[in-house]
Amino acid sequence: MRVWLDGQILADPTGPALPVTDHGFTVGDGVFEAIKVLDGVPFALTRHLERLQFSVRGLGLPPLEDAEVRKGVAAVLEGFTAPLGRMRITYTAGHAPLGSGRGEPQPTLCVVVDEMSPQAETTSVITVPWPRNERGALAGLKTTSYAENVVALARAHEQGASEAVFANLQGHLCEGTGSNVFYVVDGELRTPSLASGCLSGVTRALILEWYGAREVDEPIEVLEAASEIFLASTTRDVQGVHRWNDRELPAPGPVTREAAATWRSREAESPDPLRR
Ligand SMILES: Cc1ncc(COP(=O)(O)O)c(C=O)c1O
Repeated sequence: MRVWLDGQILADPTGPALPVTDHGFTVGDGVFEAIKVLDGVPFALTRHLERLQFSVRGLGLPPLEDAEVRKGVAAVLEGFTAPLGRMRITYTAGHAPLGSGRGEPQPTLCVVVDEMSPQAETTSVITVPWPRNERGALAGLKTTSYAENVVALARAHEQGASEAVFANLQGHLCEGTGSNVFYVVDGELRTPSLASGCLSGVTRALILEWYGAREVDEPIEVLEAASEIFLASTTRDVQGVHRWNDRELPAPGPVTREAAATWRSREAESPDPLRR
C-alpha cells in the first residue's frame, strides 16, 4: 500500500497520520472516490475527478484543485507494479471543532493505492429493509458517511451474499452498498435513473454509453420477474447475480455476458485511459 497525505508519501502507510479532530473522522464530513488501477494506470480518472468535484460542491467543502489530486495520484503510482489495484482519494473538512460545525476549514487530501483481487464472475445479493433517502442532503454524493452501507453489507455477509441492495423511500429499486444494479425484463436491459437517489456510477455511465440500457424507476419487486440481474461498479465491472434473496437465477445470462464482453473490449481498447 502507498499513501500520499497532503503532499507527502507516508513512510508507514498504516501508521498514525491524521489529527483526531479531523471532521472526516469525527462526523464523516468528507468525500471520496474509488478508482481501478490497471497495470499502473488509473481507469477513467477524469470521470472520477469530475464526480469528486460534484461531491465536494454538494457537501460544501472548500474548493479542491484537480491538479493537486493528480499530484497525489502520480506520487502513489510511482513504482506501483501490481497488475490490478484500487486507488482511493479522500478529501475531508480536516481539523474542526468536535461537533457538527466546521469552524475554519483546513481540509485534508489523501490518496491511497493498494493491490486488488479480481472479483468472481457471478455473485449473490440480498435486499435490505432500510431505505435509501433519495431526498436527503447527501443523495447522489459519494461521501465518507458510509456507515449505512457498512451495516447493510454486514447483513449481506451474514447471509452468505456479497452485496446488499436498497430500495428508496418510494419503494423503487435504488442501488447496492457499492454498486449499481442492471436487470432484464421482457428482453430489455434496465437500470434505475439518477432520480432514484443512486450514485452516478462511472461503470453505470460507461455501460449506458457503450452497451445501452433504459433508465427507469420501478418498484423493487420488479426484480422478482427479471430474467437476469447484474451489478456494475469499479471493483466488480459487470458481475452477474446468481442468487437474489432466495431466488436462483441463471448467471451470467446472455445479456450479462454480452454486456461484460463489451465492457472488456472497450476497456482494453480505450486509447488514453487517463483522459476518459
Ligand atoms: C453507493 C454506490 N453506488 C454505486 C457505486 C458504483 O460506482 P462506480 O461504478 O463509480 O464504482 C458505488 C461505488 O463505489 C457506490 O459506493
